Amino acid sequence: MGLLLKSDMIVEEIIERIKKNLNPKRLEHTMGVLDYSILLAEKHDEEILPVKIGALYHDAYRNHKKSEMIQMAKKHQLHITKEEAFNPVLLHGKLAANDLKNRYPNLLRIEEIAQAVEYHTTGYVFSSKIGKIIFIADSLEKNRIYPGVDELRKLSIEDLNTAFFLILKGKVRLALEKNHLILKETLKAYNRALINRESINDQHS
Ligand SMILES: [Fe+2]
Ligand SMILES: [Fe+2]
Repeated sequence: MGLLLKSDMIVEEIIERIKKNLNPKRLEHTMGVLDYSILLAEKHDEEILPVKIGALYHDAYRNHKKSEMIQMAKKHQLHITKEEAFNPVLLHGKLAANDLKNRYPNLLRIEEIAQAVEYHTTGYVFSSKIGKIIFIADSLEKNRIYPGVDELRKLSIEDLNTAFFLILKGKVRLALEKNHLILKETLKAYNRALINRESINDQHS
C-alpha cells in the first residue's frame, strides 16, 4: 500500500467517525475549519496532511455529554484539572488528542497534531505552525460571524503570528467580560507572543 493511499484512508476514516459523532452544525463548523486550515497551511508553508487531520478531529468529542466527557477522561486515565471538572466541555480537545494518538501512533507529526487538537480552544505555546493554524481557523472559518472577523481573516493570510496574538487577546477579553475561566495555557501563549513582540505588527495591537 502506498503512503498516499494510506493517508487518504486515514482521512476517510476520520470523516466517517466525525459524521457519526457530530451534529449538523458542528460538522459544518468542522468542514469550515478544514477549509480555512488548508488555506492557512498553503499560505504559510505548512504541510497539508497533518493540518487536515487535526482540523477534522479537533471537535470530535464536542457533542458528547458532559458526563460522558468526564467518564471517558477517567477511563483513559487522563488528568482532570479543577477547571475541567468545573466545565467538562474543556475536556473535548484533550479527549480527541488522546484518541488520535491511540489510533494513529505512527502517523507522521502525530505529537504536533495532538498538541494542536488538545489546545485548540485555549491556545498554547505551540511547538509548530500546525497548532497556530488550527487555533486560528477555529475562530475564523466561514461560519464564524462577529465584528472584526473579516479584518482578522485578511490579517491571518498576511501575518499568522499577529492573527494568533489578536485572537488570544480577544479570548482573554471575552472571558473577562463573561466571567469565563481563563486557563494558564492561554496566558502563557499570550505572554510568549508579547515576549516575541518582534513578530507582532504593532498597528494591530
Ligand atoms: Fe472545540
Ligand atoms: Fe471548533
